[in-house]
Amino acid sequence: MQYETLLVEITDGTAVITLNRPKALNALNAKLYSELGQVTDELAANDEVKAIIVTGSGDKAFAAGADIVYMYPLNSIECRKFVMQVKDVLLKFENLPKPTIAAVNGMALGGGCELAMCCDLRIAEEQAIFGQPEINLGIIPGAGGTQRLPRLVGAARAKELVYLGGSINAAEAHRIGLVNMVVPTGGALEQAKKIAGKLAAKGPLALAAAKAAVNVGTQLDLASGLTYEAECFSGLFATEDQKEGMKAFMEKRPAAFKGK
Ligand code: CAA
Repeated sequence: MQYETLLVEITDGTAVITLNRPKALNALNAKLYSELGQVTDELAANDEVKAIIVTGSGDKAFAAGADIVYMYPLNSIECRKFVMQVKDVLLKFENLPKPTIAAVNGMALGGGCELAMCCDLRIAEEQAIFGQPEINLGIIPGAGGTQRLPRLVGAARAKELVYLGGSINAAEAHRIGLVNMVVPTGGALEQAKKIAGKLAAKGPLALAAAKAAVNVGTQLDLASGLTYEAECFSGLFATEDQKEGMKAFMEKRPAAFKGK
């Protein structure tokens, strides 16, 4: 499928979604969010796709946030429609039953940081910066920044970023747990592809169950989360992949998972 604001390429089981508005530093407008929703459905349904990477076009930005030019004239009712669309798209993307990796190749500000936080893993190039600068525009983060950021890095650090509207570098983002790893400039996509290749060799049903157990379980109290995990765990015993994984272990050979 062709998109206006995204490039989508599928190679060896890995889909790379490139946010493709480089002249506006990949600013996220309603069209882009709508296309992100469509590509999420498309990739979820494509059994060839085992892992998904999101990155930015150009060498400056992952994404510099929601499109300020688009948002400026909106009234409150129009804005509500926009952010509700953003919420729904990002929730769907966050819970896509396949692993996702943000290859952060530059600035990840506002909605850019918020989109990266919807991925399972974040790989940042050393020159990348992260921040929630919305306060400087007289608004607050509206694409999950006040909710996902404190869940990832704790309320105190999230409030510092959201209240002061400054940015942090990749090393600091790594130190506070916002990113999984930092790589040299130009290396995020390659590193993300390496990890995606490793993920492609795992059982997709087990990966989907692991993702659901973490995403759903961490929103629950501990006892409910543990029950949810037990249901995900035992559900896998209805799959051929569980038999194959354990048989391969006993036969001292690598497992060949089929996603069945
Ligand atoms: N929306 C629309 N256009 C944007 C943009 C954004 N968020 N960020 C950058 N651009 C555009 C600029 O207007 C400029 O366009 P022109 O060439 O047509 O003038 C182009 O991208 C290049 O940007 P700069 O010339 O400003 O580049 P710079 O290197 O000097 O500065 C920057 C880069 C620090 C990221 C600066 O562009 C900036 O501060 N951008 C805004 C960042 C921001 O506030 N993000 C939060 C948006 S609100 C939000 O995200 C809320 C939400 O999710 C719901």
